[in-house]
Amino acid sequence: MKIPHPVQYQGSKRNLAATILEYFPPNIQTVIEPFAGTAAISVATAFQNRENRFLINDLNKPLVNLLRGIIEQPEETANAYEKLWHEQQSDSIGHYFAVRDEFNRSSDSQLFLYLLARCAKGAVRYNNSGDMNQSPDKRRKGTLPATMRKNILGVSALLKGKCEFSSSDYKVILKQATKADLVYMDPPYQGVCGDKDSRYYAGINHDEFIESLAELNAQGISYLVSYDGKTGNKNYGEKLPKMLNLTCVEINAGRSSQATLLGRKEITIESLYISPALTKRLSQTQPKKARQLTVSESCYA
Ligand SMILES: C[S@@+](CC[C@H](N)C(=O)[O-])C[C@H]1O[C@@H](n2cnc3c(N)ncnc32)[C@H](O)[C@@H]1O
Repeated sequence: MKIPHPVQYQGSKRNLAATILEYFPPNIQTVIEPFAGTAAISVATAFQNRENRFLINDLNKPLVNLLRGIIEQPEETANAYEKLWHEQQSDSIGHYFAVRDEFNRSSDSQLFLYLLARCAKGAVRYNNSGDMNQSPDKRRKGTLPATMRKNILGVSALLKGKCEFSSSDYKVILKQATKADLVYMDPPYQGVCGDKDSRYYAGINHDEFIESLAELNAQGISYLVSYDGKTGNKNYGEKLPKMLNLTCVEINAGRSSQATLLGRKEITIESLYISPALTKRLSQTQPKKARQLTVSESCYA
């Protein structure tokens, strides 16, 4: 059985989820995703039949409302998508722009689902005022309603009744974490253009993020961070400092789609940082896994 995923989202961890989950200890109370995006890690965790709860947070409110709709009201969400999808038939491009204008006025998450499925490269973009400004895909009309429905119902079957949703800054969410939880963080790549990255609704400040991680360390919280990446010889974003005492593993994320477009066969490597408390928890519960953890010097600033 395949893990269901209704939409593509830039930076989604759906392809790396199985590897990342290898570092999840047993007996987690709540899986907390402060930068949930499309919550690929929560979906994959539930797919493994783990008995835990989920806290799904993202600063992008329409995105969180969309996830809530997919998980808690799947039929209604799938029906709304089907209706919008059929409405595009006579003038697909004009229809897309009308839906986009309406979404930028109303922030309606059902419209957002259609835009995510229908926009160019499956990648949302935002202008400086926070409006969604990505163009439509001129060649494709978006996921077929029957496929979308199947994926929505699949995600709902995995997560319904197990989640708390919120749309706050990640720092607010980190305050809720306890030692029994596991926090998985996948912040937007920094280094692209300071705090603001047009690929996401918001960005984060590197130094503040490091301060937050140091606070989590002081409280003994178990966390994982997917942070920087490199494709070929090019590094994206700043690395995390050694003083955080994180263990780091490098994950082969496969062919970079950007490099493939440019005719290069480059592999993307992503770093996964493991908190001291989690490393300790793993050594108690999965000693074999913990022994495999080697510190890769190239992960640190
Ligand atoms: C790399 S994406 C996460 C992708 C996710 N792992 C997935 O599988 O879909 C980063 C997310 O962080 C969110 N974000 C950016 N700044 C944030 C902040 N200060 N607090 C919470 N979320 C934030 C963005 O809206 C974006 O959805």
